Amino acid sequence: MITTEPARGSLLAIEPMDARQISRLLQLARRMNPDRPRPLLRGKRVLLLFYEPSTRTRSSFEIAAKSLGAMTTLVLSSGSSIEKGESLLDTGYTLRAVGADVIVIRHPQAGAPLLMASHLDIPVINAGDGMHEHPTQALLDAYTILRHKKTLKGLRIAIIGDIYHSRVARSWMHLLSKFQAQITLCGPPEFLPDVASEFVSGVHITRTIEDAIRAADVVMVLRVQKERLAGVKISLQDYISRYQLTLARLKLARRDALLMHPGPIIRGLELTWEVADCPQSAIVEEVKNGVPLRMAVLAAALGKAN
Ligand code: NCD
Repeated sequence: MITTEPARGSLLAIEPMDARQISRLLQLARRMNPDRPRPLLRGKRVLLLFYEPSTRTRSSFEIAAKSLGAMTTLVLSSGSSIEKGESLLDTGYTLRAVGADVIVIRHPQAGAPLLMASHLDIPVINAGDGMHEHPTQALLDAYTILRHKKTLKGLRIAIIGDIYHSRVARSWMHLLSKFQAQITLCGPPEFLPDVASEFVSGVHITRTIEDAIRAADVVMVLRVQKERLAGVKISLQDYISRYQLTLARLKLARRDALLMHPGPIIRGLELTWEVADCPQSAIVEEVKNGVPLRMAVLAAALGKAN
């Protein structure tokens, strides 16, 4: 049972945040530069606790922490006492006892970061929890869009692929709808059930990828999350022919449209090789922007945002 409010400084989800809080983090990220390290977090210990695979989220949190002068320790579920059956909370208490000042956690169960933040007195940052949210990914993507577009307001954003199983898509939709972007979702029915009704307004569903992409300012593509399909059977061949992003389909978007994908990308499935490397692709830039954004998130979590 959750007994207390989440620890101060925690970042658990985009949903409860307001546009001002989000804008403040994005502004702070603009002042962060990993090539000009600042000792804002000197002496602080950042615990990276990962119960699921990760490449870009984990490495960028680590580099962000080190760029601010913090120490980092990585704990993976395999090779730790988690394998021996230690509970999530006992793992949290252990990491607190060894001196963690902040815990960054990725977990397969929705709500795991909230549970931890509700029982510890140090901030907890959600690095992706089940099918719930991945707030720092949405923040770094908003940061990336705003390096190319003046405002999120009124932007036409197409989100294509496995939306239902995607915590990134949930965080994107919460964030983008707070800034009045126009969101269009597209994917097979197995990947969309009821997802638009979770959001207040500004989210539409289209049947064909062509309709979704036409005149879009931003095209966001998602991976088919095979590990979360649990019983859902889809034909990959069929998926590719209906929903794969090809250069011909991308041409329907505005000429200055941005192509985004949170990664990992599976070339030849949700997008073609050429699309992944085309000039409109911001995929590598998103990864790069993850570092200053996560520097801002860590600094804010530890009250060093000035
Ligand atoms: C995503 C994740 O793990 O939620 N990746 C990421 O962190 N950039 C998306 C995915 O796994 O498809």
